[in-house]
Amino acid sequence: MTQRVSRVYNTRRRVLVTGGAGFIGSHLCERLLADGCDVLCVDNFFTGTKDNIAHLIGSPHFELMRHDVTFPLYVEVDEIYNLACPAAPIHYQYDPVQTTKTSVHGAINVLGLAKRVKAKILQASTSEVYGDPQVHPQTEAYWGHVNPVGLRACYDEGKRCAETLFFDYHRQHKLRVKVARIFNTYGPRMHSNDGRVVSNFVVQALKGEPLTVYGDGSQTRSFCYVDDLVEGLVRLMASPDEFTGPVNMGNPVEFTIGELAQQVIALTGSKSRIEGKPLPSDDPRQRQPDIALAKAKLGWVPTVALAEGLPKTIDYFRKGV
Ligand SMILES: NC(=O)c1ccc[n+]([C@@H]2O[C@H](COP(=O)([O-])OP(=O)(O)OC[C@H]3O[C@@H](n4cnc5c(N)ncnc54)[C@H](O)[C@@H]3O)[C@@H](O)[C@H]2O)c1
Repeated sequence: MTQRVSRVYNTRRRVLVTGGAGFIGSHLCERLLADGCDVLCVDNFFTGTKDNIAHLIGSPHFELMRHDVTFPLYVEVDEIYNLACPAAPIHYQYDPVQTTKTSVHGAINVLGLAKRVKAKILQASTSEVYGDPQVHPQTEAYWGHVNPVGLRACYDEGKRCAETLFFDYHRQHKLRVKVARIFNTYGPRMHSNDGRVVSNFVVQALKGEPLTVYGDGSQTRSFCYVDDLVEGLVRLMASPDEFTGPVNMGNPVEFTIGELAQQVIALTGSKSRIEGKPLPSDDPRQRQPDIALAKAKLGWVPTVALAEGLPKTIDYFRKGV
């Protein structure tokens, strides 16, 4: 008697996340798995770590591949989130040539892959494409003010060129593309020593060291909690093909640096004091995203207040400090 062999074909969406072992990428992998996708996380571990995704290893729907996106990749996927790129100045200025290669060669490689397998592809761009802006707040229509030969250009111009490539592949090859311009994001698994104000304050407070505030602390900043950002990225990927972006994603709620320092001290129960230092000449008074487009097209607004996101971030650092 012949035995009938039946096979269940995989109907899950296969999603590639480049930079998936990084801060934002690891949260995105988590979310996509929870949404029932098969996730392929690709990373060269320059700034990302296996610790960030250790809890996902072992899931039959999660795969990890060590790979540098400046080299071509041949895999079968339905969607691609391209996050691979160091994001903090201290990281992207370490090897600026590699940073530009990661953005530009990386974009060419993932776009080539998307073209071959007809995948939808999303680029994690940045508010830094606006450079040192001459208009506030920045809408997507603003073309930016970037110094092409400065120390930040490897990141800013690399990301601008990646956007160019995305839109040329869209026009020339009819690729389904999405471009998110991400503003400052915070949350668990952010780097402890990359010079950003949230992680700086939290680590200083947990160590009982003084919190360094530049100027009188009245300059304002806005930070988006990572879960809100991931929700925005997932909504953008699911949006109709005609909506390509670029679209700003960030939290427009502002708070002063002084307020942030006080909140961190209160929430950590630290005995740290605040130490004033002179304001650097290039420190902006204000940085705030205009998210009207994301609201209108994706129905997206951040929902996690600082008072909710900060304790979760502190918990994460408390375990490591
Ligand atoms: N965190 C923010 O506030 C912010 C703001 C704007 C834009 N972004 C963008 O979001 C993305 C993720 O940022 P993040 O904050 O999670 O930074 P991150 O440094 O934690 O993550 C980047 C990941 O990319 C990997 N990577 C770097 N070069 C690579 C290469 N050549 N090949 C393969 N992998 C490589 C790193 O190892 C890391 O895991 C980046 O593209 C960044 O430019 C982040």
